[in-house]
Amino acid sequence: MSDHCRTLEDVRTLLQSCKDLDPQERMKFYDSWAQTYEKDSEMIHYRAPNLVVDYLDANYPGSPGGVQVLDVACGSGLVAKLMSKLGFRHFVGVDGSKGMLELAAKTGLYQDLRLALLGTQPLPADSGVFGLVVIIGALRAGFVPVSVLRELCQAAKPGGYICMSRVEPKSESAANYRLSMERELQLMEEEGLWTQISTGDMDRYMMNVYNTYEETTEQYLRGTVYLYKRSVN
Ligand SMILES: C[S@@+](CC[C@H](N)C(=O)[O-])C[C@H]1O[C@@H](n2cnc3c(N)ncnc32)[C@H](O)[C@@H]1O
Repeated sequence: MSDHCRTLEDVRTLLQSCKDLDPQERMKFYDSWAQTYEKDSEMIHYRAPNLVVDYLDANYPGSPGGVQVLDVACGSGLVAKLMSKLGFRHFVGVDGSKGMLELAAKTGLYQDLRLALLGTQPLPADSGVFGLVVIIGALRAGFVPVSVLRELCQAAKPGGYICMSRVEPKSESAANYRLSMERELQLMEEEGLWTQISTGDMDRYMMNVYNTYEETTEQYLRGTVYLYKRSVN
């Protein structure tokens, strides 16, 4: 289908078709979606990158200029494009989809782009290097597993920040993911690995395209953003 005649209904159908994919199949899905990802994201009012970058603007305590940013599940580079407007300049991106990384490369904003299927392959980043690690739009069931949170924390330098966001879809698997993520966040804090700086609710994170019209009562999904600071010791 040529992209100029795509409708919201087409994008809804497309996204519903990928609900139950395994991780490898999901990366193939993103490879094939890459070319229309940004247009389609606008159509479904995917506002997560804007909301999280606004959140960082209000809550990130340092000055952005010299900070090394690790953009995990960077996709097409939307997040780096928005962060660069705040003055962040140094980005390394990681994603499991080659097609998405090719688009991210075209932004010209990344010093390096690394292919890895997280949860199956280790996060390709040295420990203790990044002043800020961000992950937007990928902490959910069937995407990046909760076990990767420890790797995100490790990639940050001591005293560095980790900013994570999560959508709140209406499903049992999403509720289970949320519970297990919040348990892990808490456990890592108890282990002295990091400290929560702040957390926020985000309204109208994206349209609720994952449920069929019959199941849907709310048109938009909410999201949550978390900001953590890696411990110095
Ligand atoms: C909704 S997009 C978000 C992209 C970007 N962060 C944004 O907000 O526009 C989700 C991205 O996560 C990537 N992704 C999902 N699961 C992954 C995994 N297990 N390992 C690596 N990348 C993954 C996909 O390839 C896709 O680029």
